[in-house]
Amino acid sequence: MIYKISILVVLAIVYTSAEYVSYDNYKVYKLQPKTEEQVELLRKLQHTKGYSFWTLFDYVKVDREVRIMLESKNEREFENYMKSVGLDATKTVEDVQSLIDAQLKRPQNVGRNILEYDWTYYPNLEEVEEWMNKTAERHPNVVTLLDIGRSIEGRPIRGIKIDYKKRDKPVMGVLEGTLHAREWITTVTLTWLANEFLNSKDENVRFLAENIVWHIFPVTNPDGFVYTFTDDRMWRKNRNPSNFTSCVASNVRDDLSNGVDLNRNFGFLWMTVGASQNPCAQTFAGQTAFSEPESRALANYVLDLKNQGELLYYMAFHSYSQMILVPYSHTAGANVLEVPNYADLFEIAIKGAEKLTAVHNIPYQVGTSADILYEVSGSGFDWVKGEAKVPIVHLFELRDLGQYGFLLPPEQIIPNNEEVMAAILEMDRVTRKIGYYSPVSDSGYTLKINALLLIAAVMFGFV
Ligand SMILES: *[C@@H]1O[C@H](CO)[C@@H](O)[C@H](O)[C@H]1NC(C)=O
Ligand SMILES: *[C@@H]1O[C@H](CO)[C@@H](O)[C@H](O)[C@H]1NC(C)=O
Ligand SMILES: [Zn+2]
Repeated sequence: MIYKISILVVLAIVYTSAEYVSYDNYKVYKLQPKTEEQVELLRKLQHTKGYSFWTLFDYVKVDREVRIMLESKNEREFENYMKSVGLDATKTVEDVQSLIDAQLKRPQNVGRNILEYDWTYYPNLEEVEEWMNKTAERHPNVVTLLDIGRSIEGRPIRGIKIDYKKRDKPVMGVLEGTLHAREWITTVTLTWLANEFLNSKDENVRFLAENIVWHIFPVTNPDGFVYTFTDDRMWRKNRNPSNFTSCVASNVRDDLSNGVDLNRNFGFLWMTVGASQNPCAQTFAGQTAFSEPESRALANYVLDLKNQGELLYYMAFHSYSQMILVPYSHTAGANVLEVPNYADLFEIAIKGAEKLTAVHNIPYQVGTSADILYEVSGSGFDWVKGEAKVPIVHLFELRDLGQYGFLLPPEQIIPNNEEVMAAILEMDRVTRKIGYYSPVSDSGYTLKINALLLIAAVMFGFV
């Protein structure tokens, strides 16, 4: 009898662990520590079972608003505890699962034709790929499909290239999305930008689309992204199991060790600050720099591009916090000047953020991560700046400030995308004004002028 029961229990555990994690009735509270003691208390709470922070460990600082997610059964205890330590905790989400359900909802009759996708819902990996495939078919002279390598689980890392002029040594830009699996808004920001580059009639968008060759990767962490649909909406890392160990003792998800934080795995000051060697940490940096195939694929692709022309732009997209970050992420105060063109990058970002805010009145901050968020090392965009030496490098932390966090409602996709486009147009305008590149005239036109000048010069010489 006892034997039978224990088999049933084991079966039940195996069965439930393979299911989509439910956040039914999970609550989210916001609160702001006012003293170092309160910061310490909150940091301890991060290692207490049943509490999970929407922000990273290092984010908790005096006067900074944090969001804590908890199961409903801990609610009373949590509220009492916060009261006893003098912290004002305000409930901001009553049922986390309902926000997830809203993100998973498909409008009634979604057309069978993915090209009718209208940014009113969050697509999964297959839909993103199909959208890219069909977009390439529709624009055969401009769009090329890219495939830059395989993930740990063997999925291709795909993107599209948008090239109107087919010049020999073009000015290029890379857009990197969904390196962190749960940051779904970044996926649909990049497909939107690609779509605008291809279809917008706005002359400023046309200019940006046609003068830069864009390499756009909506999902650079495909395994993690798929996992957020099939298993756990809040997954951040990739799905590398090689340092798997039970995380029960750390009071976090038991299998949190089953992945590496790709944005801590790049080979620039790897594992110096703001990253962890504990596989159970959200910021586990991996066994070595570039231990992960996803970060290697991206880095190798960036180095390849540098041989093909002038790689001018690299923009990484994350969420949430409403910021445009300037490299390097470990530098603060006067040390930001370790980046030789920091002043330019800062000016470009500030002007971009101003235009962004003007669209829907959404405030954005600008600075290095260490100055306005937390210290980080081994991030992708820092590597692109520090090792690949790409001139104009930024990282967007998109909407919002934590009300919905990663679970941004689908109604906010389009407004978010509109304001990001406004930022990028302005950032490009300022970049050009400072003198980083000049617009391309149509190659025929350039050739003609050159030929005329040559003839004139020759004639002048002869005269
Ligand atoms: C997209 O195209 C690639 C390459 O042609 C193909 O292997 C892949 O299966 C396609 N994906 C979808 C979802 O249509
Ligand atoms: C990860 O696993 C490898 C062996 O697969 C081991 O050599 C390494 O020390 C582990 N790293 C950590 C941080 O646990
Ligand atoms: Zn991120």
